[in-house]
Amino acid sequence: MKKLLILALVAALALSMAPAALAAKNPTINADDLNFEAIIDDTETAGTVNIYHWWTAGGEKDAIESVVNEFKGIYENIDAKSNPIPGGAGGAMVMKVKVLAQTGKSPEAFQAHPGQEIQPYLDAGLLLNLNGLWEYGELEDRAIPSIVDMCTASDGNHYVVPIGIHKTNIILYNIHVFEKYGVAIPDHEDITWDEFWSLCDELAAKMPEGEYPLDLGDQKGWPACQVFENILLGTDPKLYQDFINGEYNVDDLTKVMETYTKLMDYVAPDHNSRDWYHATGAMVNGTYAMQIMGAWAQPLMTNMGQEYGVDYGVFTFPGTEGWFGMCVDGFVVSNNSANVEGGVRWAYSVCTQDVQEYFSGLKESISPYTDTPDDVYNALTLHFKEQLMDGNTKVYPSITHGTAIPWSASTSLQTQIQEYATSTNHDAAYYANRIVNILKEAGVKGDWNLVD
Ligand code: BGC
Repeated sequence: MKKLLILALVAALALSMAPAALAAKNPTINADDLNFEAIIDDTETAGTVNIYHWWTAGGEKDAIESVVNEFKGIYENIDAKSNPIPGGAGGAMVMKVKVLAQTGKSPEAFQAHPGQEIQPYLDAGLLLNLNGLWEYGELEDRAIPSIVDMCTASDGNHYVVPIGIHKTNIILYNIHVFEKYGVAIPDHEDITWDEFWSLCDELAAKMPEGEYPLDLGDQKGWPACQVFENILLGTDPKLYQDFINGEYNVDDLTKVMETYTKLMDYVAPDHNSRDWYHATGAMVNGTYAMQIMGAWAQPLMTNMGQEYGVDYGVFTFPGTEGWFGMCVDGFVVSNNSANVEGGVRWAYSVCTQDVQEYFSGLKESISPYTDTPDDVYNALTLHFKEQLMDGNTKVYPSITHGTAIPWSASTSLQTQIQEYATSTNHDAAYYANRIVNILKEAGVKGDWNLVD
């Protein structure tokens, strides 16, 4: 009797939990069942949209807030919640999304770099196909040509709506530090390796103890990897192409790492105790003369009251003249969130002209769309845009920022390169071997054609 009572109680408990457990799992929506035009045009429906992104540094934070505000302006009844995942470069996002998806709480939309970075989501069947949105928004016609290919997934479909582009192969420098120590600033942006090394030598000789020519700010690993990819392309673009296609050898990579070792002589020894934006702040304060970082450091400089051409300047990373390292930001939409249609509305909003104007101005990024007017840009972003649009410029996808190699390989590489940069002896051959092993284990195999 007692046993029967216990069984009945267990059954009742199971029944009472069942609806909650079922409610936690949202259905997976197939894009073929959606009318994108009707969803996007419907500005009345209420709901909540959870947006995940990694824009937490000065400037980039303002930029995403402007998108949220614009979104609320279009879809007044939708509560758009911005969820920042600090870290930069997207490293923490994949894990976060995985955990959310497993607990039935997929975000409506989240930031992603197009290319290899979205493959794990695709493999797990988590993303909504956005071909319908691309068609409705005429993105193939509006997007600048080099973007369309990068935003086409391995299965030929579109899952990402691009929001902005940054150049990755630059060095920012503090003009006042150069002036203070009487180091002549080259009158050209495209410096050679020889010029770079002599600037480093001169700065190192003249800067007092505790100040350094360079800093990495690689507490999170990826900024050290960013330097690696710049050196790789700056050594030989064909080497870069082979690397991301999965063709490499220890000898070539040892040469790349030897250059890195030479560069480490000029870097602050406690470089990995800071994040990239702390390093930018310390460069502005004059502790470091230069920082190798992507152009997303610009809005941070602006936030700190720095003016391009007056307080800071940029060099092209040595050896990468004529090349434009592409870091493309975008948003993807989960196909099993609580509000898939809300996710579609968010993704659409990021490509609208108004959002593009606000966002590009604040993020100081290049709009992926040809119809964004040039007057939204400051002088430096416009300069980068002109470089990107110049028919003679060659573009290459970033390794560190998700596009060029599989996510697992990219994150392992970031950890490995950070370990290399932090090690005391910077053993080039040893780390070249480790890098080769990472690529082998991840089975990197691409078909990029950059150099022809
Ligand atoms: C993103 C940039 C961002 C940077 C630092 C990169 O991966 O593409 O938009 O500013 O990380 O957070």
